[in-house]
Amino acid sequence: MVSPLTAIELFSGIGAFAEACRSTGIKVVAAYDQNEHANKVYKSNFGLEPIKRNLESLGLEDFPQANIWWMSPPCTPFSRRGERKDDVDPRSQALAKLIEIIPQRLPDFIFLENVEGFIDSKMHDRYSKTLAECGYQNISFSICSSTFGVPMRRPRFFIAASRTVPLVEPDIERFRESRNLPEFLTRNDDHRLFLSPETVEKYRAVLNIVDPHQTDAYLICFTRGYFKCRKASGSLIQLPDGIVRFVAPDEIIELFGFSGEFRLPEDMPLSVKWRLVGNSVDVRAIRAVLSTAQLVCR
Ligand SMILES: C[S@@+](CC[C@H](N)C(=O)[O-])C[C@H]1O[C@@H](n2cnc3c(N)ncnc32)[C@H](O)[C@@H]1O
Repeated sequence: MVSPLTAIELFSGIGAFAEACRSTGIKVVAAYDQNEHANKVYKSNFGLEPIKRNLESLGLEDFPQANIWWMSPPCTPFSRRGERKDDVDPRSQALAKLIEIIPQRLPDFIFLENVEGFIDSKMHDRYSKTLAECGYQNISFSICSSTFGVPMRRPRFFIAASRTVPLVEPDIERFRESRNLPEFLTRNDDHRLFLSPETVEKYRAVLNIVDPHQTDAYLICFTRGYFKCRKASGSLIQLPDGIVRFVAPDEIIELFGFSGEFRLPEDMPLSVKWRLVGNSVDVRAIRAVLSTAQLVCR
């Protein structure tokens, strides 16, 4: 295998995989996403312009040779919110296309991230069958951000596949960090994050409002619909004076394990930032996934 290892990031979003690669010998040589806002964030942080094309429309020649593929396909086809339309959901078609390309490209490693609903889907069966036919050993597992000692629950499902080296269980301990919730919350005076008392009263029954100073306070999963502030899209923070506020996008990014080097553009609307970060992945989880193939340096 050549050094450094090369990777392509498919459905790259804001680049959680590129962020996880900062501390490894892995060089991301191409990224793909059709969302211009996500691509702007990606380019400004990693200096690489993602290819802004619908992955469904790409062919073999559009994918450079690389040792690693990382992919985070849309999770809506496998989530309750998206009615679990699975393989007939139009949003599954880009993954279907990539599954067709795998036998022609055969990267050494392929890593896939999705919601836990992916486990018993037809797309999962199709993907697993292709991996087996192409000679990949694979292991799958769920990792929740809380496993790393972070005050946030965000379970995600991962499949690691290798054609070259034997895979081992993910090394969770290596990426543990013990920080309580107030250590992540720095924006208590940002009025743009405050909810009106009327909104809080109207929706109180379905909101997850968290007092960060309670012992073992934790936040629930943030989704791309967080800024709409309805049920189950993410927790809200109770301030001492009775005010309830959103968690700021840069606080969420820190909860996801992004480094201080990572920046969301100042001039991007809050609603866009929330949508982008709600789609992203826990960086520690990605490193733990890479550890299954001994691909993490630190
Ligand atoms: C679940 S998010 C992945 C986010 C990413 N892992 C991150 O760190 O932010 C899925 C991403 O895939 C992109 N996407 C969805 N369908 C696509 C398609 N057919 N072609 C290209 N990009 C697509 C979306 O714009 C979105 O950014």
